[in-house]
Amino acid sequence: MTAILVLHGPNLNLLGMREPDIYGNLTLEEINLRVVTLGQELQIEVRCTQSNHEGGLIDALQEARTWAQGVILNAGGYTHTSVALRDAIAAIEIPVVEVHLSNVDAREQFRHTSLISAVCRGKVSGFGWRSYMLGLRGLAEILSEAQQ
Ligand code: DQA
Repeated sequence: MTAILVLHGPNLNLLGMREPDIYGNLTLEEINLRVVTLGQELQIEVRCTQSNHEGGLIDALQEARTWAQGVILNAGGYTHTSVALRDAIAAIEIPVVEVHLSNVDAREQFRHTSLISAVCRGKVSGFGWRSYMLGLRGLAEILSEAQQ
């Protein structure tokens, strides 16, 4: 069975109460439930995890290599700053989809730079919690094509 890691970065554990006008009202648990449920429909095992720490995200990416065929990653603020995260994505050979709840290109200038986009398979931004669903659907199609 295809397995996918959904990896959430810093401050995303606060979803639901964190700037709801930007990030929406759903908690991280509620988003995870929706993603896991979609995974079941698509016959994909989805495991979700979150870390506020750069090293924790890098460890999770490296481990994913051993059990997952792809990753949905919302790297939060590290998107715009982390060379180490970019290097981890480049190092693991499974596809990583960059996801953001908000439309980062419509926000502050510093959010327009992503250090990870160039090493990700694709990017979904601006659809709120649905960004994760769209990312999962896209990744599922890419993986199923690759298996044919
Ligand atoms: C975010 C956008 C980032 O700029 C921000 O630092 C986040 C969340 C998003 O999902 O819209 O923490 O990745």
